[in-house]
Amino acid sequence: MNPIDLLFANMEKLSPGDDRLSLYVLRSLPEHRFEVVVDAGCGAGRQTFVLADELKTAVHAVDSYQPFLDRLIQRAKEKGLAQLVRTHCMDMKDIPTVFPAIDLLWSEGAAYNIGFSNALATWVKAIRPNGLAVVSELCWLREDRIPDAVIEFFQSGYPEMRSVEQNIQTAEEAGYKLFNTYTLPNEAWVKDYYEVLEPRAKSLANHSDVAVRDFAVETLKEIEIFKILEDSYGYVFYVLQRTN
Ligand SMILES: C[S@@+](CC[C@H](N)C(=O)[O-])C[C@H]1O[C@@H](n2cnc3c(N)ncnc32)[C@H](O)[C@@H]1O
Repeated sequence: MNPIDLLFANMEKLSPGDDRLSLYVLRSLPEHRFEVVVDAGCGAGRQTFVLADELKTAVHAVDSYQPFLDRLIQRAKEKGLAQLVRTHCMDMKDIPTVFPAIDLLWSEGAAYNIGFSNALATWVKAIRPNGLAVVSELCWLREDRIPDAVIEFFQSGYPEMRSVEQNIQTAEEAGYKLFNTYTLPNEAWVKDYYEVLEPRAKSLANHSDVAVRDFAVETLKEIEIFKILEDSYGYVFYVLQRTN
């Protein structure tokens, strides 16, 4: 059994996130009418539904894992949003080939899969001049008083993690202007996410399949680290506009 299917079964939220914050960020954008909207690494569609419902325009939901897209389609039907959602099973690094003139590119908790700076540099080619990108990324929120266990965990788990300032610089170098940043509240990590994953991971920690067991144990470790984070890291939204 695929560990991802077991651990994330029936979940709509596949990373820390919050519909209210997604909507708040969307409403804060300098434009509100978009023709081509792409949700990169959409997963099971939590934020896709926020976009489609608010914008009342088609949202292209891109993910490389078909079972998540199948769940997204099912949920979209249940929510009455199916006519506004188009799914594309593809690698998000190929977005410029498939969508050459995007008005709004949205990506929550997914850009890291191809590297945050690589994702921004790749997608800028697909965004029309003055078009917008909203990308969330795990970042260091401060430089000092970071618990040793937190540093140790991310040194092996996500050594590419940067500070907010470094990521802003990366975005500017890739050809974007920064409008704003928003940090996810800690509650958005727990509600419908860690509170679901923790008991599941505990129940899978002694599974007969070593891949399942390892994934469960790693997830439990991530949740334990979150409990001692002392606001040293977080998920930050970067609201960007293509400048050239
Ligand atoms: C942590 S999940 C976040 C999903 C969703 N945005 C959310 O917040 O619930 C990351 C998603 O990126 C997808 N993904 C990973 N690598 C990808 C790639 N190279 N191209 C497209 N999707 C990818 C995964 O299948 C997964 O659905």
